[in-house]
Amino acid sequence: MRNMRMSLAPRRAVAALAAVLLAGSVAACGNSDTGGGGEGGNDKIVMGFSQVGAESGWRTANTNSIKEAAAEAGIELKFDDAQQKQENQIKAIRNYIQQKVDVIAFSPVVESGWDTVLKEAKDAGIPVILTDRAVDSADKSLYKTFLGSDFVKEGRLSGEWLIEEMKDATGDVNIVELQGTTGSAPANDRKQGFAEAIAADPKLKIIASQSGDFTRAGGKQVMEQFLKAHPKIDVLFAHNDDMGLGALEAITAAGKEPGKDIIIITIDAVKDGMQALADGKFNFIAECSPLLGPQLMDLAKKVHAGEEVAPRIEVDETTFTQEQAKEALPNRKY
Ligand code: AHR
Repeated sequence: MRNMRMSLAPRRAVAALAAVLLAGSVAACGNSDTGGGGEGGNDKIVMGFSQVGAESGWRTANTNSIKEAAAEAGIELKFDDAQQKQENQIKAIRNYIQQKVDVIAFSPVVESGWDTVLKEAKDAGIPVILTDRAVDSADKSLYKTFLGSDFVKEGRLSGEWLIEEMKDATGDVNIVELQGTTGSAPANDRKQGFAEAIAADPKLKIIASQSGDFTRAGGKQVMEQFLKAHPKIDVLFAHNDDMGLGALEAITAAGKEPGKDIIIITIDAVKDGMQALADGKFNFIAECSPLLGPQLMDLAKKVHAGEEVAPRIEVDETTFTQEQAKEALPNRKY
């Protein structure tokens, strides 16, 4: 009898503990269904992603990286292409808030004007991750982290290479600049980094600077104008490969030899840009990696789990000369 009474007590304790655990796990399931899983309420993390557009080879590689990494990480991706318009991105983000996605990620086409919609996401309890491009919001609590390149550094490395390249030149070196999308972080920062670097050598002068909107067509059109307006152009600094590639057409059509008559510096290092560099048509590229997908998905999992993440995560990058491009090209992934 005594033994039986003693064995009943632990059994009751085990049953009580099981009931508590069961209640806890039901509650946890309920949370993940309302807080996550989107409207369908499944177990997968649902990410709403608003992409800038499809303006460049870099962007295509970035979109592919994000889609592939989401599939690999088991994250359900809702994807929207904003066609380089801020209003489309704001609309997409509002849709994701309504759909109660678990995480919102986006690459902001321009730096300003995000506070209202970011506040709406925060009030809805949906964490936001910035990827590729930054916003200029003073309130850093509006997003969890920013994963992307140091665009100022890319501009600075480009300028430093030019200083070395031109160290023995005599007389003014006339530079034209093809800027990225007006108001975008990469356009603002690359311009700043390049200008700061070349300020060390007063003979390096930017004689014209205009936006080609990060597209080949834009680069070609603006370069044609530059060539008409300025008889002596020594250097082109293009904020991305695509604009540089568009400018190549304009330079060749004007009877000049790209890479020789006009030194060409670009940013990105996508395959077409690297090919132009290896062929001697470009002279230098500062890399900007579009392969952000895997890191983005890791961050999404962490912020969804309520883990702390670093507020700024930088991407490792390098630079390429013509010789280095020849070596790297066969293994280039994008
Ligand atoms: O934000 C990254 C930039 O956007 C890339 O350098 C450019 O090619 C793209 O369009």
